[in-house]
Amino acid sequence: MSLRADAGSFDAIEKSSSDELRALQLARLKETLARTYANVPHYRRKFDAAGIHPSDLRSLTDLSKFPLTTKEDLRQNYPFGMFAVPMDKIARVHASSGTTGQPTVVGYTQGDVQTWARLVARSIRAAGGRPGDKIHVAYGYGLFTGGLGLHYGAEHLGCTVIPVGGGFTERQVQLIADFKPDIIAVTPSYLLAIADEFDRRGMSARDTSLRIAICGAEPWTEGMRDEIERRMVVQAVNIYGLSEVIGPGVAQEYATSKDGLTIWEDHFLPEIIDPETGAVLPDGEEGELVFTSLTKEAMPIIRYRTRDLTRLLPGTGRAMRRIERIKGRSDDMLIIRGVNVFPSQIESVLATMPDFAPHYILEISRPSQLDELDVVVETRNEAGAEIQAALARQAEHLIKALIGVTSTVRAVSPGMVERSQGKARRVIDKRPKS
Ligand code: DLL
Repeated sequence: MSLRADAGSFDAIEKSSSDELRALQLARLKETLARTYANVPHYRRKFDAAGIHPSDLRSLTDLSKFPLTTKEDLRQNYPFGMFAVPMDKIARVHASSGTTGQPTVVGYTQGDVQTWARLVARSIRAAGGRPGDKIHVAYGYGLFTGGLGLHYGAEHLGCTVIPVGGGFTERQVQLIADFKPDIIAVTPSYLLAIADEFDRRGMSARDTSLRIAICGAEPWTEGMRDEIERRMVVQAVNIYGLSEVIGPGVAQEYATSKDGLTIWEDHFLPEIIDPETGAVLPDGEEGELVFTSLTKEAMPIIRYRTRDLTRLLPGTGRAMRRIERIKGRSDDMLIIRGVNVFPSQIESVLATMPDFAPHYILEISRPSQLDELDVVVETRNEAGAEIQAALARQAEHLIKALIGVTSTVRAVSPGMVERSQGKARRVIDKRPKS
């Protein structure tokens, strides 16, 4: 059988019964906990401190007795301390934003790269993609998991990959017109910017070859889906994932139902917790999504707090459960043009410039399709307009170089940034919520 035909069919587990799925999860969970405890000192310490051992897990619900894992745990083990295999077994690393200057690093064995490709292939298939389709990948390539994640998955499914990456909107439009892809994988806000560019050029966004848009990596709304589908005449479906868990391909919306995202539960076990108390909430209640990996080799992750807020819903026509569209976050992470940004990262960049006082405000808006980040920061001493402008340009450069996001910085005189009475309100997010 050719790889293409094989990869194009459903995975048997997608159609398994709930009992079969739970049995598989339990076996994989036991194995993961034992392997993680044996090979990752961080987990061994945390389990020991909590007085819990992998052999204490008899049922899936026993997982709630194990400690939660946070981005801070990953930061403390920067860069490679969370790996469960020797470095010569690591085939790839990726990274995402940390809350400080250090990124969060994740690793993959050759086996993990293959598992990931299989899951992204499954996601593209659920989105309506088939072997032989041409897929234009406009997610960024590099340390971000979006580009290479979709790329390997599309190849595994037997698609023709067009690895465009992000940016250069005019070129995106030209390549869509010339190469005639069936599918585009892209952040939803950037797809709308691409639609604008079609309009600007007097070309019809409605008449492209595109059939499917696989959109994710940032929060979006039903309103944006309607606009994308109307303006580009495609099926726009939601793909979810995060680097710490594997990257894109943790959960995917089926094009046939578009009713939330099915979690690939044979590889990732979800829980919903109360973000304040950490207590596990029953299915159907809104809270913070937590994941435990069931098959990852290089960097197994136990009860990782995603900070994403959603609900767990029963599967439709299959045992694997769904999540609702992500509602928000339980921390202050912002996603600006698809780049994850913590206000604390901007603060640390500004703090490297001694001319600035620690008084700043971030304002995020979406004047047309794309997010704009404005940073207003006070200088320590009165400075002339020219010096203020030079400091602002320098800060813009540093923010771009160190965090990867484009901003407009305005340096203002001492006392110009409003002081708060209590907790400083440093972020004003003016983007539409729904
Ligand atoms: O954004 C992985 C990805 C790439 C997903 C391409 C989908 C497509 P990170 O950079 O680690 O990984 O960021 C993960 O992005 O915790 C969510 O807050 C947010 N996010 C990802 N997908 C969605 C989505 C990639 N469909 C963080 N809806 C996650 C809402 C999303 N938020």
